[in-house]
Amino acid sequence: MSVHQGFEGQTVMISGGLGDIAQATALAFGKAGARIALSDITPLDEAESRIAELRKQHVEVHYTVVDVRDPEAVAMWLIEVTSLWGKVSIAIANAATVTMKRFQELTPAAWIREMEVNLNGSFFLANAACRHFVETGIHGNVVFLGSWAAHAVHEALPAYGVSKAAIRMLCQSMALEYAPHGIRLNEVAPGYVNAGLSRSVWNEDPSQAEAARLRVPVQALIEPAEVARQVLWLCDPQNKHFTGSTLLMDGGLSLKR
Ligand SMILES: NC(=O)c1ccc[n+]([C@@H]2O[C@H](COP(=O)([O-])OP(=O)(O)OC[C@H]3O[C@@H](n4cnc5c(N)ncnc54)[C@H](O)[C@@H]3O)[C@@H](O)[C@H]2O)c1
Repeated sequence: MSVHQGFEGQTVMISGGLGDIAQATALAFGKAGARIALSDITPLDEAESRIAELRKQHVEVHYTVVDVRDPEAVAMWLIEVTSLWGKVSIAIANAATVTMKRFQELTPAAWIREMEVNLNGSFFLANAACRHFVETGIHGNVVFLGSWAAHAVHEALPAYGVSKAAIRMLCQSMALEYAPHGIRLNEVAPGYVNAGLSRSVWNEDPSQAEAARLRVPVQALIEPAEVARQVLWLCDPQNKHFTGSTLLMDGGLSLKR
C-alpha cells in the first residue's frame, strides 16, 4: 500500500540503483505509487537482498545489470523497461565512483574511469530518456546527482569534482534543448550524505562522522531520504518552472574556504 501519492503508474529508472541514495529514492518514488527500474553493475544474485528490502515495503522493482559506461547497454535497458511497463517518465542519473587521489597520484586510468562513469554514464541515461520522452510525447523529468564538490574545490577528490561540475553544464545544456518538448532536467547537489563511501568510513569510525558533521556550517549530516525528497520535489509537475536548476543542499559546506 502506498503511503504517499503523486507518481501513481509512472515508471522511474535509477542508475547505480543499489547505492544508498538510489535505494532511498526508489523507496520514496515507490511509496508515491511509481514502479522502479533499477540498474547497477552488481550481478543479480548479489543484488537480491537490496531488491527484496524494497519489495518488502511494497515497491514494484525490476533490476537489470547495466554498466553506465556502455551506451548500448543503457539503451537496451530502456527498451527492456518500456517493453515491461510501457512508457518511462522519470530518469535519475545517480551512478558514480569516487577516486580519493590528488592530481599528483591520479593515474590516467582513474581519471578516465571517473569521467566515464560519472559524466558519460549520466549523459547516456539522460539522453536516452529524453529521446524516449520526445518520441512518446511525455513531459518527462531527468534528475542528475551532482555534488557540493562541484561548487568548491575538494583537494582530495579533484577528478570527482571536475566530473560533477561537468554534470552541471550538461544539465543546463540539455535543459535548454529539451524545454520546448515539456521535458525538465535538474540536479540535486548534496553535501556530506550518510551514504556510499562516506557511510562505510563513518560506520567504521564514528569519530570521523562527528568530525565531518562539525565541518558543516549547519552542523548536520544529510540522510539519503532527505536527498530523495529533493529528487521527488524536482519531478513534481507543480514545479514546472524548474529546469536546468541545481538544488545545492550542502548545509553551507561549499561557502567555506
Ligand atoms: N554519499 C555522499 O556523501 C554524496 C554526496 C554528494 C553526492 N553524492 C552522489 O550521489 C550519488 C549516489 O551516491 P551514494 O552515496 O548513494 O553512493 P553509492 O556508492 O552507495 O552508490 C553508487 C552506485 O553506483 C554504482 N556504480 C558505480 N559504477 C557504476 C557503473 N559503471 N555503472 C553502473 N553503476 C555503477 C555502484 O555500484 C553503487 O551502487 C552519486 O552520484 C554521488 O556522487 C553522494
